[in-house]
Amino acid sequence: MELKQSVIAITGAGQGLGQMMALTLAKAGAELALLDVNDEALLNTKEQCNVLGVKALTYKANVTDERHVEQVFSDIVRDFGQLDGLINNAGILRDGLLIKVKDDEMTKMSLDQFSSVIDVNLNGTFLCGREAAAQMINTQRKGVIINISSVARAGNIGQSNYAASKAAVATLATTWGKELARYGIRAAAIAPGVIETSMTGGMKPEARERLEKMVPVGRMGSPEEIAQTAKFIFENDYINARIFEVDGGIFM
Ligand SMILES: NC(=O)c1ccc[n+]([C@@H]2O[C@H](COP(=O)([O-])OP(=O)(O)OC[C@H]3O[C@@H](n4cnc5c(N)ncnc54)[C@H](O)[C@@H]3O)[C@@H](O)[C@H]2O)c1
Repeated sequence: MELKQSVIAITGAGQGLGQMMALTLAKAGAELALLDVNDEALLNTKEQCNVLGVKALTYKANVTDERHVEQVFSDIVRDFGQLDGLINNAGILRDGLLIKVKDDEMTKMSLDQFSSVIDVNLNGTFLCGREAAAQMINTQRKGVIINISSVARAGNIGQSNYAASKAAVATLATTWGKELARYGIRAAAIAPGVIETSMTGGMKPEARERLEKMVPVGRMGSPEEIAQTAKFIFENDYINARIFEVDGGIFM
């Protein structure tokens, strides 16, 4: 796909990886539809994209709200006249053990704690992917959908909810890559390792040091390294239904 003048929607574009992917694609000449629940953060990303000389519009959107997501993707096509790509990036963490036993007291992960993460990370990806594909097909555009998974998809202590959601969005990407190819739509996933963003910024120094020891390259990844991978997937038309692990070779 030629990125120049293509229209790419990014969820969770207000900060972190979503913002960096928006700026990287803007530098390549893409126009951006920026989605997030946080509209102040969105404006910041939009201004930075505009400085790079591309059209960028913001859509305050909760990816878990079906009617809202349908409306936003219809608005994107109304505003830009086309949709060529989507990055399903919006995601949250609500870490906790499935069962915790302390001083003979047992606590369990609540269904609410489990479902809240599944709702944003998995159901949100499903809804946005479905609506983006519908718009691409209706407007007869070829397109690309990228789901942001995680190294945690392999399973990680304290992350039943997050790991399950990230395994599922990787599987959605491989499923969509096979199912939507007949319409000229490709799909892929990126499974980042531990990347320097506010999601990881709150780590204690000891935890950070322990983590860096698990990465053969000896450091956390940068948002630029994930954004570069997204750009590569958009531009290479032979990539489809595959998952890219960008994690420094971390031992999990
Ligand atoms: N940072 C990492 O180390 C890392 C590693 C692997 C995967 N990931 C994944 O990459 C993605 C981005 O991570 P990040 O570190 O930039 O996170 P972040 O918390 O910095 O940003 C996430 C963005 O998503 C938005 N968001 C949250 N819930 C939403 C909702 N319901 N609807 C719309 N927007 C919503 C937030 O407002 C925020 O702007 C996430 O899916 C995350 O799971 C991150």
